[in-house]
Amino acid sequence: MQIAPSVPRRSPRPSRAGLFALTLLVAACSDDAPERRRALGENPSFGDAMQVADAERGGRLFRSCAACHTIGMGAGDRNGPGLYGVMGKPVAGNSRRFAYTGALRSLGGVWTPDRMDRWLAAPAKTAPGTSMTFRGVADPLDRADIIAFLQAQSVVGAGAAASPPRP
Ligand code: HEC
Repeated sequence: MQIAPSVPRRSPRPSRAGLFALTLLVAACSDDAPERRRALGENPSFGDAMQVADAERGGRLFRSCAACHTIGMGAGDRNGPGLYGVMGKPVAGNSRRFAYTGALRSLGGVWTPDRMDRWLAAPAKTAPGTSMTFRGVADPLDRADIIAFLQAQSVVGAGAAASPPRP
């Protein structure tokens, strides 16, 4: 036996137009960081985080660096040195004009992804006395995304993006 509902029930499904708007909204702010974070688990290794790094999101996160750093080719220094093409360069060597501290210079070597990860996690701990007064990026996935972005912002990265390898 069926009892007619006293209140007319609303359709449980959103209208077509509503669905379409929702799809647009999701596409506009697509950020799969929560999913990637879940897939990586509690304490992801740096290698694992880099495997799923998203340079585009890294570009958005770079806004927190942009107060002090430019990223464009030949864009020069601000409070901090210009960062175009910094990956693979000698530490404290990306800008010819910038007055680096002895603290950073004394690290030596070049910017490997691994070293960049440690630097961005805790600048003051990595190079005590550095003038980069930035508390660091705590989240491993955020750091991986930023590093992927830095890698892409170079002659090598730009070239790779312009002509993807063909199968
Ligand atoms: C408050 C300003 C400030 C912010 C914010 C900042 N930095 Fe820096 N950064 C500096 C300064 C100043 C130096 C030079 C440090 C030194 O000489 O000790 C530096 C140095 C660096 C270097 C070394 C460059 C080289 O030539 O070796 C890298 C890489 C770097 N920053 C990346 C970043 C990234 C990525 C972010 C954002 C996640 C960031 N910084 C945020 C001021 C800042």
